[in-house]
Amino acid sequence: MSVEQTNITSGIEVKKQNRASILNKVFMFLLLKKTNAFFAVLRSVCPLLYLKRSNLVVVTRYEDVLQALSQPSSLRVVTAEKIERSVGAFMLGRDDCVENHRDKAIMQQVMRCDDAVTIRLLVEDRCRKIIDECRQRGEIDLVPSYSRRVPVLMAASYFGFATTRYPPAELERSMFRWARDTQRDIFFNHRNDPEIHRRSVVAGRELRAYLRELIPQRQLLIDAGGQAEDVLSRLLRMKFDNGFNRECIVSNMAGMLIGTVETSSKAVVHIINQLLLRPKTFAAAKRVAVAGDDSLLLKYCWEALRFQPLSPVVTRFCASDIHLAQGRTINRGSKVLIAVQSAMHDGRALDRPRDFRVDRPAEHYLHMGYGQHRCVGERVADLMVPVMVRHLLLLPDLRAMAPIETEGGFFPDHFKLGFTPC
Ligand code: HEM
Repeated sequence: MSVEQTNITSGIEVKKQNRASILNKVFMFLLLKKTNAFFAVLRSVCPLLYLKRSNLVVVTRYEDVLQALSQPSSLRVVTAEKIERSVGAFMLGRDDCVENHRDKAIMQQVMRCDDAVTIRLLVEDRCRKIIDECRQRGEIDLVPSYSRRVPVLMAASYFGFATTRYPPAELERSMFRWARDTQRDIFFNHRNDPEIHRRSVVAGRELRAYLRELIPQRQLLIDAGGQAEDVLSRLLRMKFDNGFNRECIVSNMAGMLIGTVETSSKAVVHIINQLLLRPKTFAAAKRVAVAGDDSLLLKYCWEALRFQPLSPVVTRFCASDIHLAQGRTINRGSKVLIAVQSAMHDGRALDRPRDFRVDRPAEHYLHMGYGQHRCVGERVADLMVPVMVRHLLLLPDLRAMAPIETEGGFFPDHFKLGFTPC
């Protein structure tokens, strides 16, 4: 090939790459900034969007989303290796295998239904203390002061991370950092930034080292007849003959922390944001808060998350061809964005999806995922989130002072709210 031909070929390549990068930016803009409108168009004209160049498929209709998330052996979690390097063998990194079902069953056994009162009281106490600290100021920066702190403090007590050997404030800071650095890599590092991954590996190792040191101390207390009812103590009191060993306890405890903190924080921020955008709904939710009806308030919370879930999509890798409704197929080798936010607005399945309603059937909510990897902490979140939201709604004249600020688009870092000092 002559020099001239080579120059022409590389010129065409550069143009192609530029076009691909522009298309990618447009796609991300529509997905993240015009989410509901973009999904509405896709659902009606192109329910399964194929982006050939990036080998990406977007699934948008409710029935397809359910079918896709019901096939974990074909549509696999993309971040399995990352999770393994950071947290070790953990259920989210394991698709459709014995260990996933085993670990999930064990963790659901130790996060018991009859813990509801304990969890509520614990969360209630933490929320009240934090809110009392800022009552006179008439403002609160929701994320650092409240929405991240309450789940960390709940996890320290209820999961059993706390120990007298570690100063509480230092532990709180470490737990927060472990949770954030790992979550960021596992769920939001789509471009595989090596620095984000490195921080996650460091955080995961530190977190596991902390637990490996904590476990023998807790075991001593149990052997001395200690009756503590935190999740870790319960795990240590159980006898397993199914391969669930100490390292499994370490990874699952780590996974519970990671699953809890940024998710619950982001959920509370999105719920308050969505309620504030709808003054009449906000007033109705406030009446429910005043009445102290947390079960009804939970419905407001989940309906708000239907409009703004943690992420508009769940990401998977297609390991073998799968067939969806009406002959739609996803081919092996594609990266798949399963648009749960789109499914929750599909008028083929939901009645008047644009309306904010608290009487929708439970199966129309997919903000906790669906299928094998559906959130294992759903029960804890159902108890914790409405209490956190209630304390905020009870503040007089609550209002947003600035839009939600996110660091690199991953998690809310600040959401400044004002209210009348009380
Ligand atoms: C409002 C708060 C929460 C939201 C919105 C939420 C959301 C989710 C979602 C969407 C998934 C599925 C991810 C996927 O399919 O790729 C998930 C999985 C998971 N969540 Fe949550 N979560 C919340 C709170 C919690 C809490 C409190 C815990 C721990 C007690 C937890 C632990 C987990 C775990 C361990 C998984 C993985 C389950 C598996 O792979 O089988 N989450 N969560």
